[in-house]
Amino acid sequence: MDVTSTLSLGDPLQPARKATAEMLRERDHSFSLPQPFYNDERLFQIDMQEIFHKEWLIAGMTCEIPAKGNYLTLQIGDNPIIVIRGGEGQIHAFHNVCRHRGSRLCVSEKGKVAKLVCPYHQWTYELDGRLLFAGTEMGADFDMKEYGLKPVHVKSAGGYIFINLSENPPAIDDFLSTLAHYMEPYDMENTKVAVQTTLKETANWKLVIENNRECYHCNGSHPELLNTLLEWDDVTDPRASQAFKDQVAACTKAWDEEKIPYAHASFGLRNRIVRMPLLEGTVSMTMDGKQGCKKLMGRIKNPDLGSMRILHLPHSWNHCMGDHMIVFTVWPISAQETVVTTKWLVHKDAVEGVDYDVARLREVWDATNDQDRRLAEENQRGINSTAYQPGPYSKTYEFGVINFLDWYSERMLNNLGDTPATKL
Ligand code: FES
Repeated sequence: MDVTSTLSLGDPLQPARKATAEMLRERDHSFSLPQPFYNDERLFQIDMQEIFHKEWLIAGMTCEIPAKGNYLTLQIGDNPIIVIRGGEGQIHAFHNVCRHRGSRLCVSEKGKVAKLVCPYHQWTYELDGRLLFAGTEMGADFDMKEYGLKPVHVKSAGGYIFINLSENPPAIDDFLSTLAHYMEPYDMENTKVAVQTTLKETANWKLVIENNRECYHCNGSHPELLNTLLEWDDVTDPRASQAFKDQVAACTKAWDEEKIPYAHASFGLRNRIVRMPLLEGTVSMTMDGKQGCKKLMGRIKNPDLGSMRILHLPHSWNHCMGDHMIVFTVWPISAQETVVTTKWLVHKDAVEGVDYDVARLREVWDATNDQDRRLAEENQRGINSTAYQPGPYSKTYEFGVINFLDWYSERMLNNLGDTPATKL
Protein backbone atom coordinates (compact mmCIF):
# COMPACT_ATOMS: atom_id res chain seq x y z
CA MET A 1 0.00 0.00 0.00
CA ASP A 2 1.26 3.47 -0.85
CA VAL A 3 0.96 5.11 2.58
CA THR A 4 2.01 8.53 1.30
CA SER A 5 -0.90 8.75 -1.13
CA THR A 6 -3.51 7.65 1.38
CA LEU A 7 -2.32 10.34 3.79
CA SER A 8 -2.07 13.09 1.17
CA LEU A 9 -3.30 16.47 2.36
CA GLY A 10 -4.26 17.52 -1.15
CA ASP A 11 -2.72 20.49 -2.92
CA PRO A 12 -3.17 23.72 -0.94
CA LEU A 13 -1.69 25.61 -3.90
CA GLN A 14 -4.42 24.61 -6.33
CA PRO A 15 -6.28 27.98 -6.26
CA ALA A 16 -2.94 29.80 -6.71
CA ARG A 17 -2.06 27.54 -9.66
CA LYS A 18 -5.34 28.42 -11.35
CA ALA A 19 -4.79 32.14 -10.72
CA THR A 20 -1.19 31.89 -12.02
CA ALA A 21 -2.30 30.29 -15.27
CA GLU A 22 -5.02 32.91 -15.69
CA MET A 23 -2.60 35.81 -15.15
CA LEU A 24 -0.15 34.31 -17.67
CA ARG A 25 -2.83 33.75 -20.28
CA GLU A 26 -4.04 37.32 -19.92
CA ARG A 27 -0.72 39.15 -19.61
CA ASP A 28 0.58 41.58 -22.22
CA HIS A 29 3.89 39.98 -23.19
CA SER A 30 5.58 43.31 -23.84
CA PHE A 31 4.95 44.41 -20.21
CA SER A 32 6.55 43.27 -16.97
CA LEU A 33 4.65 40.66 -14.95
CA PRO A 34 1.91 41.30 -12.39
CA GLN A 35 3.17 41.84 -8.84
CA PRO A 36 2.51 38.32 -7.40
CA PHE A 37 5.07 36.82 -9.83
CA TYR A 38 7.74 38.83 -8.03
CA ASN A 39 6.75 38.75 -4.38
CA ASP A 40 4.10 36.17 -3.53
CA GLU A 41 5.22 33.13 -1.51
CA ARG A 42 2.59 30.85 -3.08
CA LEU A 43 3.70 31.81 -6.55
CA PHE A 44 7.29 31.23 -5.47
CA GLN A 45 6.35 27.66 -4.45
CA ILE A 46 4.71 27.18 -7.85
CA ASP A 47 7.88 28.51 -9.56
CA MET A 48 9.89 25.92 -7.67
CA GLN A 49 7.52 23.05 -8.42
CA GLU A 50 6.83 23.86 -12.06
CA ILE A 51 10.09 25.44 -13.23
CA PHE A 52 13.01 24.50 -10.97
CA HIS A 53 11.78 20.95 -10.34
CA LYS A 54 10.86 20.27 -13.96
CA GLU A 55 13.43 22.07 -16.14
CA TRP A 56 17.08 21.13 -16.66
CA LEU A 57 19.47 22.97 -14.32
CA ILE A 58 23.24 23.39 -14.35
CA ALA A 59 24.44 21.57 -11.23
CA GLY A 60 28.11 22.37 -11.71
CA MET A 61 31.11 21.60 -13.89
CA THR A 62 32.60 18.17 -14.54
CA CYS A 63 36.04 19.46 -13.49
CA GLU A 64 34.65 20.04 -9.99
CA ILE A 65 34.26 16.27 -9.49
CA PRO A 66 37.27 14.99 -11.44
CA ALA A 67 37.79 11.59 -9.75
CA LYS A 68 35.86 8.65 -8.33
CA GLY A 69 34.08 9.64 -5.12
CA ASN A 70 34.27 13.42 -5.70
CA TYR A 71 30.89 14.97 -5.04
CA LEU A 72 29.12 18.32 -4.88
CA THR A 73 25.82 19.15 -3.21
CA LEU A 74 23.02 21.55 -4.06
CA GLN A 75 19.82 22.75 -2.48
CA ILE A 76 16.95 23.25 -4.94
CA GLY A 77 13.98 24.57 -3.00
CA ASP A 78 13.30 21.90 -0.36
CA ASN A 79 15.35 19.29 -2.20
CA PRO A 80 18.95 18.55 -1.21
CA ILE A 81 20.79 16.93 -4.13
CA ILE A 82 24.14 15.17 -4.45
CA VAL A 83 26.11 14.84 -7.69
CA ILE A 84 28.92 12.29 -7.51
CA ARG A 85 31.54 10.67 -9.76
CA GLY A 86 31.14 6.88 -9.80
CA GLY A 87 33.65 4.05 -10.10
CA GLU A 88 33.71 3.95 -13.89
CA GLY A 89 33.99 7.72 -14.19
CA GLN A 90 30.29 8.19 -14.85
CA ILE A 91 28.38 10.97 -13.08
CA HIS A 92 25.41 10.10 -10.85
CA ALA A 93 22.90 12.40 -9.19
CA PHE A 94 20.68 11.48 -6.25
CA HIS A 95 18.36 13.04 -3.75
CA ASN A 96 20.66 13.63 -0.79
CA VAL A 97 18.19 11.85 1.48
CA CYS A 98 18.85 8.61 3.37
CA ARG A 99 16.31 5.85 2.69
CA HIS A 100 16.26 4.92 6.40
CA ARG A 101 14.67 7.91 8.11
CA GLY A 102 15.51 10.65 5.68
CA SER A 103 18.65 12.30 7.05
CA ARG A 104 20.82 14.25 4.64
CA LEU A 105 23.79 12.08 3.69
CA CYS A 106 26.39 14.64 2.59
CA VAL A 107 26.44 17.90 4.47
CA SER A 108 29.44 19.61 2.81
CA GLU A 109 29.28 21.60 -0.41
CA LYS A 110 32.03 19.48 -1.95
CA GLY A 111 34.09 16.50 -0.90
CA LYS A 112 35.38 13.03 -1.64
CA VAL A 113 34.12 9.73 -0.25
CA ALA A 114 34.79 6.02 -0.73
CA LYS A 115 31.12 5.24 -0.01
CA LEU A 116 28.14 7.36 0.95
CA VAL A 117 27.64 6.83 4.68
CA CYS A 118 24.67 8.33 6.48
CA PRO A 119 25.83 10.28 9.55
CA TYR A 120 22.73 9.24 11.53
CA HIS A 121 22.81 5.39 11.75
CA GLN A 122 25.54 4.67 9.20
CA TRP A 123 23.52 3.09 6.42
CA THR A 124 26.09 2.87 3.64
CA TYR A 125 25.50 3.33 -0.10
CA GLU A 126 27.65 2.56 -3.15
CA LEU A 127 28.58 5.53 -5.36
CA ASP A 128 25.91 4.34 -7.82
CA GLY A 129 23.24 4.64 -5.09
CA ARG A 130 22.82 0.95 -4.13
CA LEU A 131 22.38 0.30 -0.42
CA LEU A 132 25.35 -1.83 0.69
CA PHE A 133 25.02 -1.94 4.47
CA ALA A 134 22.22 -1.37 6.96
CA GLY A 135 23.57 -3.40 9.89
CA THR A 136 21.84 -6.51 11.22
CA GLU A 137 19.25 -4.50 13.15
CA MET A 138 16.84 -4.34 10.23
CA GLY A 139 16.00 -8.06 10.46
CA ALA A 140 16.60 -11.10 8.28
CA ASP A 141 13.87 -10.26 5.75
CA PHE A 142 15.10 -6.72 5.10
CA ASP A 143 15.69 -6.33 1.35
CA MET A 144 18.48 -3.84 0.69
CA LYS A 145 17.61 -3.74 -3.01
CA GLU A 146 14.43 -1.84 -2.12
CA TYR A 147 16.30 1.00 -0.43
CA GLY A 148 18.74 2.48 -2.92
CA LEU A 149 19.07 6.26 -3.15
CA LYS A 150 16.46 7.99 -5.27
CA PRO A 151 18.10 8.93 -8.57
CA VAL A 152 17.91 12.31 -10.28
CA HIS A 153 18.26 12.64 -14.07
CA VAL A 154 21.76 13.77 -14.96
CA LYS A 155 23.56 14.51 -18.23
CA SER A 156 26.88 16.13 -18.99
CA ALA A 157 28.23 17.90 -22.08
CA GLY A 158 30.95 20.41 -22.79
CA GLY A 159 32.13 20.36 -19.18
CA TYR A 160 28.69 21.16 -17.76
CA ILE A 161 26.60 18.87 -15.54
CA PHE A 162 22.84 19.18 -15.99
CA ILE A 163 20.27 17.69 -13.63
CA ASN A 164 16.51 17.42 -13.75
CA LEU A 165 14.29 16.58 -10.78
CA SER A 166 11.19 15.58 -12.73
CA GLU A 167 10.14 12.09 -13.78
CA ASN A 168 9.86 13.05 -17.44
CA PRO A 169 12.41 15.74 -18.30
CA PRO A 170 12.01 17.80 -21.45
CA ALA A 171 14.31 16.98 -24.39
CA ILE A 172 17.74 18.59 -24.21
CA ASP A 173 20.07 16.36 -26.25
CA ASP A 174 20.16 18.60 -29.35
CA PHE A 175 21.38 21.48 -27.25
CA LEU A 176 23.89 19.29 -25.43
CA SER A 177 25.52 17.99 -28.59
CA THR A 178 25.83 21.56 -29.91
CA LEU A 179 27.19 22.73 -26.57
CA ALA A 180 29.82 19.95 -26.66
CA HIS A 181 30.87 21.13 -30.15
CA TYR A 182 31.17 24.78 -29.07
CA MET A 183 33.09 23.84 -25.90
CA GLU A 184 35.51 21.47 -27.67
CA PRO A 185 38.34 24.07 -27.95
CA TYR A 186 38.25 24.48 -24.16
CA ASP A 187 39.10 20.84 -23.29
CA MET A 188 36.93 21.15 -20.22
CA GLU A 189 38.25 18.03 -18.52
CA ASN A 190 41.51 19.93 -18.11
CA THR A 191 40.13 23.01 -16.40
CA LYS A 192 39.69 24.01 -12.78
CA VAL A 193 37.66 26.52 -10.81
CA ALA A 194 40.13 29.26 -9.88
CA VAL A 195 37.66 30.97 -7.58
CA GLN A 196 33.94 31.05 -6.93
CA THR A 197 31.62 33.45 -5.14
CA THR A 198 28.11 33.32 -3.72
CA LEU A 199 26.05 36.49 -3.63
CA LYS A 200 22.71 36.75 -1.84
CA GLU A 201 20.24 39.18 -3.39
CA THR A 202 17.03 40.37 -1.74
CA ALA A 203 15.07 40.03 -4.95
CA ASN A 204 12.94 37.48 -6.77
CA TRP A 205 14.94 35.19 -9.09
CA LYS A 206 13.08 36.46 -12.17
CA LEU A 207 14.25 40.00 -11.47
CA VAL A 208 17.84 38.71 -11.39
CA ILE A 209 17.40 37.03 -14.78
CA GLU A 210 15.48 39.97 -16.27
CA ASN A 211 18.28 42.30 -15.26
CA ASN A 212 20.81 40.02 -16.93
CA ARG A 213 18.80 39.80 -20.14
CA GLU A 214 19.18 43.48 -21.03
CA CYS A 215 21.98 46.01 -21.15
CA TYR A 216 19.64 49.02 -21.25
CA HIS A 217 20.92 49.65 -17.71
CA CYS A 218 24.63 49.11 -18.49
CA ASN A 219 25.64 52.69 -19.32
CA GLY A 220 24.27 53.96 -16.04
CA SER A 221 25.58 51.17 -13.83
CA HIS A 222 28.49 49.08 -15.15
CA PRO A 223 31.65 51.13 -15.84
CA GLU A 224 33.94 48.12 -15.20
CA LEU A 225 31.98 45.80 -17.50
CA LEU A 226 31.86 48.36 -20.28
CA ASN A 227 35.66 48.47 -20.38
CA THR A 228 35.34 45.32 -22.51
CA LEU A 229 31.73 44.31 -23.20
CA LEU A 230 29.97 45.16 -26.43
CA GLU A 231 26.26 45.09 -25.82
CA TRP A 232 25.18 43.75 -29.20
CA ASP A 233 25.39 40.06 -29.81
CA ASP A 234 24.14 40.10 -33.37
CA VAL A 235 25.18 42.06 -36.45
CA THR A 236 21.47 42.30 -37.31
CA ASP A 237 20.79 44.28 -34.13
CA PRO A 238 19.36 47.63 -35.34
CA ARG A 239 21.78 49.44 -33.00
CA ALA A 240 24.89 47.68 -34.39
CA SER A 241 27.33 50.13 -36.00
CA GLN A 242 29.28 49.56 -39.23
CA ALA A 243 32.50 49.53 -37.17
CA PHE A 244 31.07 46.66 -35.08
CA LYS A 245 30.08 44.73 -38.21
CA ASP A 246 33.60 45.20 -39.63
CA GLN A 247 35.11 44.02 -36.34
CA VAL A 248 32.90 40.90 -36.34
CA ALA A 249 33.95 40.14 -39.93
CA ALA A 250 37.66 40.41 -39.04
CA CYS A 251 37.32 38.32 -35.88
CA THR A 252 35.28 35.55 -37.46
CA LYS A 253 37.90 35.21 -40.21
CA ALA A 254 40.56 34.61 -37.55
CA TRP A 255 38.26 32.24 -35.61
CA ASP A 256 37.55 30.24 -38.77
CA GLU A 257 41.30 29.77 -39.25
CA GLU A 258 41.58 28.35 -35.73
CA LYS A 259 38.34 26.30 -36.08
CA ILE A 260 36.67 28.14 -33.21
CA PRO A 261 32.84 27.92 -33.40
CA TYR A 262 31.07 31.26 -33.19
CA ALA A 263 27.80 31.20 -35.18
CA HIS A 264 24.49 31.78 -33.42
CA ALA A 265 22.89 28.57 -32.21
CA SER A 266 19.42 28.80 -30.68
CA PHE A 267 17.21 26.11 -29.17
CA GLY A 268 13.85 27.76 -28.84
CA LEU A 269 14.16 30.51 -26.26
CA ARG A 270 15.68 28.22 -23.61
CA ASN A 271 19.23 27.99 -24.94
CA ARG A 272 21.40 30.22 -26.99
CA ILE A 273 25.12 30.16 -27.86
CA VAL A 274 26.99 32.86 -29.76
CA ARG A 275 30.55 34.15 -29.82
CA MET A 276 30.97 37.91 -30.20
CA PRO A 277 34.06 40.15 -30.08
CA LEU A 278 34.84 42.19 -27.01
CA LEU A 279 35.58 45.91 -27.33
CA GLU A 280 38.30 46.43 -29.96
CA GLY A 281 41.76 46.12 -28.39
CA THR A 282 40.56 44.00 -25.44
CA VAL A 283 40.66 40.21 -25.10
CA SER A 284 39.27 39.40 -21.67
CA MET A 285 36.81 40.69 -19.08
CA THR A 286 39.45 42.28 -16.86
CA MET A 287 39.75 45.91 -15.82
CA ASP A 288 42.34 46.69 -18.50
CA GLY A 289 40.99 44.19 -21.05
CA LYS A 290 44.24 42.22 -21.11
CA GLN A 291 44.40 38.49 -20.34
CA GLY A 292 43.37 37.51 -16.82
CA CYS A 293 45.28 34.23 -17.16
CA LYS A 294 48.52 33.94 -19.12
CA LYS A 295 47.85 30.29 -19.95
CA LEU A 296 45.11 29.97 -22.53
CA MET A 297 42.42 27.31 -22.20
CA GLY A 298 42.40 23.98 -24.06
CA ARG A 299 43.80 24.06 -27.60
CA ILE A 300 43.28 27.81 -27.95
CA LYS A 301 46.19 29.74 -29.49
CA ASN A 302 44.57 33.09 -30.22
CA PRO A 303 43.82 35.02 -27.00
CA ASP A 304 41.36 37.24 -28.88
CA LEU A 305 38.29 34.99 -28.93
CA GLY A 306 35.89 37.66 -27.75
CA SER A 307 33.34 36.07 -25.48
CA MET A 308 31.20 33.06 -26.24
CA ARG A 309 27.91 33.72 -24.46
CA ILE A 310 25.84 30.75 -23.38
CA LEU A 311 22.31 31.20 -22.12
CA HIS A 312 20.53 28.40 -20.31
CA LEU A 313 17.08 29.21 -18.96
CA PRO A 314 15.82 29.28 -16.32
CA HIS A 315 18.98 30.13 -14.49
CA SER A 316 22.40 30.52 -16.14
CA TRP A 317 24.49 32.81 -18.31
CA ASN A 318 28.14 32.29 -19.21
CA HIS A 319 31.10 34.10 -20.78
CA CYS A 320 33.83 31.94 -22.38
CA MET A 321 36.95 33.84 -23.45
CA GLY A 322 40.33 32.59 -24.61
CA ASP A 323 42.03 32.69 -21.22
CA HIS A 324 39.19 31.97 -18.80
CA MET A 325 35.47 31.41 -18.59
CA ILE A 326 32.81 32.51 -16.12
CA VAL A 327 29.74 30.44 -15.19
CA PHE A 328 26.81 32.12 -13.44
CA THR A 329 23.92 30.21 -11.88
CA VAL A 330 20.88 31.62 -10.10
CA TRP A 331 19.21 29.77 -7.21
CA PRO A 332 15.87 30.93 -5.78
CA ILE A 333 15.71 30.88 -1.97
CA SER A 334 12.32 32.50 -1.30
CA ALA A 335 9.93 34.85 -3.08
CA GLN A 336 12.30 37.76 -2.46
CA GLU A 337 15.68 36.08 -1.95
CA THR A 338 18.02 34.63 -4.55
CA VAL A 339 21.60 33.40 -4.56
CA VAL A 340 23.90 33.97 -7.54
CA THR A 341 26.97 31.75 -7.80
CA THR A 342 29.85 32.81 -10.03
CA LYS A 343 32.70 30.46 -10.99
CA TRP A 344 35.85 31.55 -12.81
CA LEU A 345 37.52 28.64 -14.64
CA VAL A 346 41.06 28.48 -16.05
CA HIS A 347 43.34 25.83 -17.55
CA LYS A 348 44.04 23.23 -14.87
CA ASP A 349 47.81 23.73 -15.19
CA ALA A 350 47.59 27.53 -14.75
CA VAL A 351 49.39 28.49 -11.56
CA GLU A 352 47.91 31.05 -9.19
CA GLY A 353 50.30 33.95 -8.63
CA VAL A 354 52.22 33.03 -11.80
CA ASP A 355 49.65 32.73 -14.58
CA TYR A 356 46.74 34.45 -12.88
CA ASP A 357 45.88 36.57 -9.91
CA VAL A 358 42.49 35.76 -8.37
CA ALA A 359 41.73 39.35 -7.33
CA ARG A 360 42.38 40.59 -10.87
CA LEU A 361 40.41 37.72 -12.45
CA ARG A 362 37.24 38.42 -10.45
CA GLU A 363 37.42 42.21 -10.24
CA VAL A 364 35.10 43.13 -13.12
CA TRP A 365 32.33 40.66 -12.33
CA ASP A 366 32.55 41.20 -8.57
CA ALA A 367 31.78 44.85 -9.25
CA THR A 368 29.16 44.03 -11.88
CA ASN A 369 27.43 41.40 -9.74
CA ASP A 370 27.19 43.81 -6.84
CA GLN A 371 25.86 46.59 -9.07
CA ASP A 372 23.28 44.15 -10.46
CA ARG A 373 22.38 43.09 -6.91
CA ARG A 374 21.57 46.68 -6.01
CA LEU A 375 19.52 47.16 -9.19
CA ALA A 376 17.50 43.97 -8.59
CA GLU A 377 16.93 44.85 -4.93
CA GLU A 378 15.70 48.35 -5.78
CA ASN A 379 13.52 46.84 -8.49
CA GLN A 380 12.06 44.48 -5.87
CA ARG A 381 11.39 47.30 -3.38
CA GLY A 382 9.48 49.30 -5.98
CA ILE A 383 7.51 46.26 -7.17
CA ASN A 384 6.39 45.57 -3.59
CA SER A 385 4.63 48.95 -3.56
CA THR A 386 0.86 49.20 -3.92
CA ALA A 387 1.67 51.68 -6.73
CA TYR A 388 3.39 49.04 -8.91
CA GLN A 389 1.74 48.03 -12.12
CA PRO A 390 3.35 46.17 -15.05
CA GLY A 391 5.36 48.54 -17.24
CA PRO A 392 6.32 48.38 -20.95
CA TYR A 393 9.59 46.90 -22.25
CA SER A 394 11.60 48.52 -25.02
CA LYS A 395 11.48 46.15 -28.00
CA THR A 396 14.91 47.41 -29.13
CA TYR A 397 16.74 47.26 -25.80
CA GLU A 398 14.77 44.74 -23.77
CA PHE A 399 13.88 42.02 -26.26
CA GLY A 400 15.94 39.57 -24.17
CA VAL A 401 13.64 40.16 -21.20
CA ILE A 402 10.58 39.67 -23.39
CA ASN A 403 12.10 36.39 -24.65
CA PHE A 404 12.80 35.20 -21.09
CA LEU A 405 9.26 35.92 -19.93
CA ASP A 406 7.78 34.32 -23.05
CA TRP A 407 9.80 31.17 -22.27
CA TYR A 408 8.85 31.28 -18.58
CA SER A 409 5.18 31.80 -19.40
CA GLU A 410 5.08 28.99 -21.94
CA ARG A 411 6.87 26.53 -19.66
CA MET A 412 4.76 27.46 -16.66
CA LEU A 413 1.49 27.03 -18.58
CA ASN A 414 2.76 23.80 -20.10
CA ASN A 415 3.95 22.38 -16.77
CA LEU A 416 0.73 23.42 -15.06
CA GLY A 417 -1.03 21.34 -17.70
CA ASP A 418 -2.70 24.42 -19.15
CA THR A 419 -1.40 24.25 -22.73
CA PRO A 420 0.10 21.59 -24.99
CA ALA A 421 3.90 21.45 -25.14
CA THR A 422 5.58 23.79 -27.60
CA LYS A 423 9.22 24.32 -28.41
CA LEU A 424 10.06 27.61 -26.69
FE1 FES B 1 20.26 7.43 7.64
FE2 FES B 1 19.24 6.39 9.78
S1 FES B 1 18.59 8.17 8.77
S2 FES B 1 20.92 5.70 8.65
